[in-house]
Amino acid sequence: MKFSINQVLHQAQPGEQIVVQGWVRTKRQSKEVTFLELNDGSCLASLQIVIPHSLAVNHGLLTTGAAIKAEGAIAASLGKGQRIELLATALEVIGTADPETYPLQKKRHSFEFLRTIAHLRPRTNAFGAVFRVRNACAYAIHQFFQSQGFIWVHTPIISTSDCEGAGEMFHVTSLKPGQMPDYSQDFFGKPAYLTVSGQLEAEVLAMAFSKVYTFGPTFRAENSNTSRHLAEFWMVEPEIAFAELEDDADLAEAFLKYLFNYVLTNCQADLEFFQERISDRVISNAENIINQPFERLTYTQAIEILTKSSQKFEFPVAWGIDLQSEHERYLAEQYFQKPVIVMDYPAGIKAFYMRLNDQDPEHPTVRAMDVLAPGIGEIIGGSQREERLEVLEMRLQAIGLNPADYWWYLDLRRYGTVPHAGFGLGFERLVQFMTGMANIRDVIPFPRTPLNADF
Ligand code: 4AD
Ligand code: MG
Repeated sequence: MKFSINQVLHQAQPGEQIVVQGWVRTKRQSKEVTFLELNDGSCLASLQIVIPHSLAVNHGLLTTGAAIKAEGAIAASLGKGQRIELLATALEVIGTADPETYPLQKKRHSFEFLRTIAHLRPRTNAFGAVFRVRNACAYAIHQFFQSQGFIWVHTPIISTSDCEGAGEMFHVTSLKPGQMPDYSQDFFGKPAYLTVSGQLEAEVLAMAFSKVYTFGPTFRAENSNTSRHLAEFWMVEPEIAFAELEDDADLAEAFLKYLFNYVLTNCQADLEFFQERISDRVISNAENIINQPFERLTYTQAIEILTKSSQKFEFPVAWGIDLQSEHERYLAEQYFQKPVIVMDYPAGIKAFYMRLNDQDPEHPTVRAMDVLAPGIGEIIGGSQREERLEVLEMRLQAIGLNPADYWWYLDLRRYGTVPHAGFGLGFERLVQFMTGMANIRDVIPFPRTPLNADF
């Protein structure tokens, strides 16, 4: 029987006959036998294959990186750190790997170097663990929403509206360079972009299904070379009808707790690896998320805390500023030492669709909510949406957008409008937060950043 190495390591009993396939991680030779560590990506651990020198196989081809198929009997292992091993009775080299040029040798490589070989880095312990955790998170996201009756909706990748109003969009065009920029001749007859968020379309669907979520790629042409920004990243955007900002915050908190709990339960070996190699706070961080209520406060209260703190910030603090990463991290990491939900931001720094608070017209605020995480800063951005037609039209005009361009979005406020809210979780920031990986480029298989779209 063919098994994954994960199945073998957890279930196989001494004496059982099995076949496994994978890539050689390391090779060690003694007088009578050769030991191979074989990994197939199904789990962090490798299976030790014991090969007698008498076995009919070209031993010279059993090198690090080679793909092999091994058949034999499971035996209790005498070596430390492993329960069982495989005594090979047949061995086949499926694909060789030239030891002179194969870049992944036994020594530990830097993450910077591994980014230059993104096609091979999934074969390392660290990236194997990251991408398994990423997979588990994606699965748990669907489980969480599906178990609560949310409908998964698919919003377009090609869009003609800038949801966030930040103008950080990639153009999509079929025009040849000489024809630019006559968009009337273009494929869609007007400028089109890669979407920065599926929110506006998710609102349409929430106005029919009550509870929906999206989970897909989004794109931002932000020229920011930071450890938290990608030009292409995945976002999860739930949208709930008949809901206000507090419901949104409750959903965000329950959601993150569920995901951490799922990964802590189901990816134990991978998390222990991160705890040992990446950050010794990975497990305590996860437990902290699961067990402690998040802190909730208003933007105005956050500004008060930042102003009173003795911490020196690069960006000066004053009511009205957009919180910078250093401010967000101070609040979550140092002041509260747990995730923080900041609500009611100044209207001037947030998107047009957020619901205007009615009090204090001198300092208008909107029903925005950001979830700030220790070590990361903003991980979730959300809001209650403006459901009042006149207010929304006024807001669009105030920031120079043409209400006619948003006719269908405004129609939702004309026909059966209801209070509703939602948020966007940056999927890679979540995986960073869970694994302790310092750079966002190391939690997505093929990162897209300024001047970098190889592979
Ligand atoms: O705060 P943002 O811009 O919110 C929205 O797009 C809303 N339309 C979401 C909604 O209410 N449905 O983005 C949401 C999250 C951020 O909190 C951050 O985690 C992540 O997306 N994000 C990025 N992640 C990686 N690289 C980037 N360039 C990111 N920009 C935002
Ligand atoms: Mg945001």
